[in-house]
Amino acid sequence: MGRFEKTIVIENGLDRRELGYYSTPNFISTFMTKKMLNINPNGKTALDPCVGKEEMIKEFYDSNIEIDGIDIHNHGDHFYCNFIEDDFIDFYKRNKIGLIFDQKINLEYDYYIANPPYNCHEVDYIKNNKKELNNVFESIGVHNMYSMFISAIIDSAKDGALIAIISADSFLTARMHNPLRKQILEECSIHYLILCPTSLFWEQKADVRTCIMILQKGKKYQKKVKTLNRPKNKEDLKNKLEEEAFIETELENIVSVSGEKQFEFVIDIPSEIQDLFKSPRIGEKFKCITGISTGSDSKYISKEKKEGFEIPFYKNPGTRKFFCEQDGYLTNEYLKFDKEIKNFMVRNKSYMLQEGITCSSMGLPFSACYLPKGSTYGVNANIFCDKKDIWWLLAYLNSSLVTYIVRGVLIRSNMVTSGYVSKIPVIELSKKVKDSLELIAKEAYNKKVEPKEACSYVKKIDEILFRELDLSKETETDISHFASNLQTRV
Ligand SMILES: C[S@@+](CC[C@H](N)C(=O)[O-])C[C@H]1O[C@@H](n2cnc3c(N)ncnc32)[C@H](O)[C@@H]1O
Repeated sequence: MGRFEKTIVIENGLDRRELGYYSTPNFISTFMTKKMLNINPNGKTALDPCVGKEEMIKEFYDSNIEIDGIDIHNHGDHFYCNFIEDDFIDFYKRNKIGLIFDQKINLEYDYYIANPPYNCHEVDYIKNNKKELNNVFESIGVHNMYSMFISAIIDSAKDGALIAIISADSFLTARMHNPLRKQILEECSIHYLILCPTSLFWEQKADVRTCIMILQKGKKYQKKVKTLNRPKNKEDLKNKLEEEAFIETELENIVSVSGEKQFEFVIDIPSEIQDLFKSPRIGEKFKCITGISTGSDSKYISKEKKEGFEIPFYKNPGTRKFFCEQDGYLTNEYLKFDKEIKNFMVRNKSYMLQEGITCSSMGLPFSACYLPKGSTYGVNANIFCDKKDIWWLLAYLNSSLVTYIVRGVLIRSNMVTSGYVSKIPVIELSKKVKDSLELIAKEAYNKKVEPKEACSYVKKIDEILFRELDLSKETETDISHFASNLQTRV
């Protein structure tokens, strides 16, 4: 977020951001409805729990489906639905209260269609209702409006009901949404999982990555899942939906298990890449950890080296690869402050001042830089290994392959924590290959490469890895294209 201005007024004087109002384009509503009607042509009733100006329900109306539309705000005349002015989360809570053990809500609706609110009043809404929401959404957590909507819709639906949702897609991989993914997998069959282009809502001044999901309540309806990787733009999505250019795959192929009871939804990942996940992970082979949080960087970290602030501190290489300067100098008294100040924390003390690798934490690209001996580091991921492993590993981490693994498979949101870095598979490489990678990383480091110069080194690394892994040309192209077009592909 942050790309667009804060207040955006929609025609009736309301702030779009307040209500999380983004109109669903027609072709998307039509696609979602048609697909649900194909799967079950005999349904009679539908619910849109955040109906807005009825953008999603015309097709249902034309198919003689009786529609209820809920919205917290009355956005004007309603032609296609029985409009109910209500807070859907509260409506759900009222339905849930009073259920006796094991009883289900089982609303009568055969179809649900929704574009839940996001990027809106949720911060205040959640803050003001935290306790109650925590009770209602005990299992999935209270993180944002759209995840509560998805969970509430699934929980309210009767067996066999179809559910089509377009929403922000961070729930596909973000760690905090693991329980929501579990709910989806345990309670629903997944028919479609489609990533939408990043630019889909740009015209409405919204910079949000979204996906379309069509589910059916109950596990027995599961067939192959139709998936689509993120198309270039709106036109491309429209064409692909029309042409049905989906990849059909078994459910297990879109679920990547990444730890005990942890998994992510992954879309259209070539089987060659999925196989790489059988290799041991960074966290199993090396130490992958975070370091110091000061509670107030401006107080404890100085931009310049000066008396009392002499210890190089690294906190986020950002777009810099192989080489980066320290982000500042930490107070010499950091160990004392760790003992004395409540929110000044030094984690993993025994690894402080050791040489290693420091990884980026925020931003689109994933990158890694050499961490010189005598340095300290922040809450980004840092890797410590034998001296002999530092340089080839640094090269490997900066490869397009690892960019693809991190940003295309493991996590699509902009925050890469040490938990995710720990999950990167470390592929088996011969001594000869490691030696060649080491030479490249050392040269880039010694030349103190700027981010834009780093790509020629990455290219050499990619060539070596592609040769070694013997990937198909198609997969190689996909990886390279992904890594050099992160803005549209993540
Ligand atoms: C992303 S818009 C979707 C509008 C329309 N259905 C569409 O798809 O174009 C989200 C809608 O959710 C409504 N909304 C926000 N919070 C809500 C809540 N707690 N309960 C019901 N509706 C809510 C907003 O008023 C807005 O109309």
